[in-house]
This record gives sequence, structure tokens and C-alpha cells, in this order.
Amino acid sequence: MAATHRLAVVPGDGIGPEVIPEALKVLDATGVRFERSSYPWGAGHYKDTGRFMPDDGLEQLRSFDAVLFGAVGLPDVDDTLPARDFTFKVRVGFQQYVNYRPIRSLAGVRSPLAAAPDIDFVIVRENTEGEFVQNGAVRNPDEPDGVATETSVFTRAGITRVARYSFELARRRRGKLTNVTKSNTLIHSLAYWDRVIGEVAAEFPDVDYSRMYVDAASANFVLAPERFDVVLATNMMGDILSDLGGALMGSLGLGASGNINPEREYPSMFEPIHGSAPDIAGRGVANPIGTIWSAALMLEHLGESAPAGRVMSALEATLRDGVLPVDLGGSARTAEIGDAVVARLQ
Ligand code: NAI
Ligand code: MG
Repeated sequence: MAATHRLAVVPGDGIGPEVIPEALKVLDATGVRFERSSYPWGAGHYKDTGRFMPDDGLEQLRSFDAVLFGAVGLPDVDDTLPARDFTFKVRVGFQQYVNYRPIRSLAGVRSPLAAAPDIDFVIVRENTEGEFVQNGAVRNPDEPDGVATETSVFTRAGITRVARYSFELARRRRGKLTNVTKSNTLIHSLAYWDRVIGEVAAEFPDVDYSRMYVDAASANFVLAPERFDVVLATNMMGDILSDLGGALMGSLGLGASGNINPEREYPSMFEPIHGSAPDIAGRGVANPIGTIWSAALMLEHLGESAPAGRVMSALEATLRDGVLPVDLGGSARTAEIGDAVVARLQ
């Protein structure tokens, strides 16, 4: 009998609870067996209980094979809390040091780029350290001498493991890796980042390795995105570039991601790259494609490659057939997109 995967579902806030059911609908239609538990955690839960998740939340998630997550954050809740109290807690707590974010041209979706090049690359965002360790302080905030600091942390071990993953990924793809950096100005942290990645590069002489400053990389994402294969970036630069990547595909709503613990010591977590989109929440118009795609990444991670491929084919067929959500210029509602993908699953 095929394995049953244990899946924790955290829909979160805003459009999270609108897009997650569409991914679950598609997962159910693949025939892959899941035993699911859903958790009401997020900013709404914080308003009700004073906590984004219970103190033992990570322990509760620990025994699952994977987590499927929507997004967290609400306009009336302090927006410094969602990442600190949920997203980063899971990513760091479960050593999900790879944030895997595929960017691809999709037939049927009009690229915002006039040249509409054939884009197919993966952003690997370092996901546990760097600029987002929230190591800082504010002193005398209301005084003329007020000062705030936020110190990045880059470790040899942290850089090495994400670099190895990226080179191995490049080897399985088109053999090209671009390290996005800013070592000309961040002369301590990112010069060290470059140095350690350069050492790992020596173990992969078959991979075409280069460095690109993040400002130039931003321009090249628009001017020559077809040139990228694997893009390795720090936590913050990868965050920013992946929204740009989503936009290159046609909308932020298309962006998928996996927060991956490659050693599989802990569950990995799959989520769309977008946030809770409070400006469109509750209207049934959110684009669920990034979430469905994330579910396909999850299937792949769980060893269900054939069903993952079928979900991607059905998703692409849906777009090719012109079933488009509002953000892509269409009129299909969130649930209609999920239904259309299910109808095209072979
Ligand atoms: P956002 O990604 O939620 O929205 C940015 C823009 O893109 C909005 O105009 C939104 O309507 C649109 N958009 C996003 N996803 C869409 C979809 N699936 N379909 C159609 N349109 C979509 O980012 P924003 O506005 O900066 O943040 C909103 C909240 O989300 C904040 O509280 C923020 O902290 C949180 N956030 C949470 C994340 C997470 O849980 N991983 C990631 C990013 C933001
Ligand atoms: Mg982001």
C-alpha cells in the first residue's frame, strides 16, 4: 500500500484561508494519501489568544512529514510579530535553511516584459540567518540621539550548507550558479559570504559559477532573466528578488516556495511567496496558483514525483486554457481555479 503522509496545515490570515483549500482540493484529487491536521495559528489567533502559535507549537508540528502554510499578518496587528513569532520560528527551528523559489515563464500568462523571454530559474534564498536574525536594538527612540541597529549574522556552516545545496541543484539543472552579493559595500559579512561560497565552488568545477552584485542582478532580472539558472541569495536579498521573480512571471500570486530541511531531520514547510494580501482578502478573488504550485513542490519533496508532475501539467493546462485569476487579467474566482486544475488532473 502507498505511504500515507502526515500533513500539518496552517492557513493563517487574510487570503491564506482562501488559497489553502484550493491546494488541498488538488492534493486530494491526486490520490496521494494524506492524514491532515489543521492549525488556526497566525495574527487572528494572536488577537484571540495573545500568541501566534502555542508555546509548544514547534513540538506539535515536529512529527509531521510536511507543513502547508498560507500567510500570516493582519493590518490591525503589529507587523513586526508575524515573522518573528511564526514564520522565522518554523524556518529556523526546523533548520529549513533552503528557501527554494522557482521562477518560470508560463504559457497563457502574459509576461510584463515586452520581449517575453523564456525564463526558467530557481532562487535559493538562505533561510535561517543573514539579515533576518533580528539581532539589534533601539536606543532613545524619541530623542534626537535615537539610534537603531540590526546586525546580520553569517556563519561558515550556514553559508556552506546552502551553497552546497545550490551547487548540487545547479548540477542537476543547466549547470550554472549565480551568487547574488553586495560584497563591495558589505565588506565584512558579504565578503565572507563570497569567500565561503568560492571555497564550495572549488568542489564543483563542472558548475559555471559567477558573482553578481544585487543592484546589477535586479536590472538583469528584467533585462536578461533567461540567463539565470540557480540564483543563490542571502535571506533579505532573496526575499526581495523573489517578489521581483513573481512579478516577472506575471504576478506575485504565482510564486511558490519550499522552506526545505534537506537532511529531512525536521518537516519542511511549503507556502506561496506572497503575504496575506489584506487589500483583497474575503472577496474570493485571490490567485491560488502559487499555493497549488507549492503543494506540487511538497509532493516532490515527499517522493511523490509523478503526482507532482501531474499537478504542474494540470496547472499549466489551466492557464493555457485561459482560466485566469483577476490579477492575471482574467475573471476566474479562487475556487474556480482550483476546480479547473482538478478537472485537468489526469
Ligand atoms: P502581499 O504579498 O500580501 O501583497 C502584495 C500585493 O500583491 C497586494 O496588492 C496583494 O493584493 C497582491 N497579492 C498578493 N498575493 C496575491 C494573490 N495570491 N492573488 C492576487 N493578488 C495577490 O504583501 P504585503 O501587502 O506587503 O503584506 C501583507 C501582509 O502579509 C503583511 O502583514 C505582511 O507582513 C504579511 N506577509 C506575510 C508573509 C508570510 O506569511 N510568509 C510574506 C509576506 C508578507
Ligand atoms: Mg517576501
